[in-house]
Amino acid sequence: MKRYHPILVSLHWLLTVLIIVALLMGSNILSQIPNDNPEKLFALKLHMISGFIILILMIARVIVRKVTQKPPQADAGNAILNKAGITAHYLLYLLVFGMVGSGIATALIAGLPDIVFNNSGVALPENFNDILPRLFHGIIAKILFAMIFLHVLGALYHQFVRKDSLLSRMWFGK
Ligand code: HEM
Repeated sequence: MKRYHPILVSLHWLLTVLIIVALLMGSNILSQIPNDNPEKLFALKLHMISGFIILILMIARVIVRKVTQKPPQADAGNAILNKAGITAHYLLYLLVFGMVGSGIATALIAGLPDIVFNNSGVALPENFNDILPRLFHGIIAKILFAMIFLHVLGALYHQFVRKDSLLSRMWFGK
């Protein structure tokens, strides 16, 4: 088994784009728009919908990962690095689910489903700073950014230092 299943490969790259866009837009656009700006509702709507799409695709990914055959664990040439690689992958899954979970909790506490999707007309709170899950959402975002950076470094280390063509495992082909 040389490669991941093509469905898993598709989900990996689709989720890469969606998660990075959500992280960048969340930190640089959404959280910078004051809650009394009328554009905030639309920005929240987009963010919440994309968060849900990420959740559904992540669940699909976990299921496809369980039921398809995987290539053997990549060898980084060092037992500690090999363990770190396995842990980092679990952590990436956990952090993404943590983002979705803390986002949904923030939204529910702030009553966003009604305000954003049912146009209830109720004003948004002045900000979300008093909502504990919002604090976690911001912290997990920073850890996720760092883990994605390490993940890319790891892949490049395999590809160009160990020259083991690791990237081809996460691409299509025979
Ligand atoms: C993987 C999925 C998600 C990612 C990557 C993501 C990313 C982010 C980021 C980076 C921020 C800004 C954090 C900061 O700078 O402190 C943010 C804010 C926020 N997100 Fe998410 N998010 C996700 C899912 C969700 C979901 C599912 C919901 C709700 C259903 C949600 C609701 C919010 C809310 C309400 C804010 C606060 C905006 C503000 O402070 O004005 N997020 N998100």
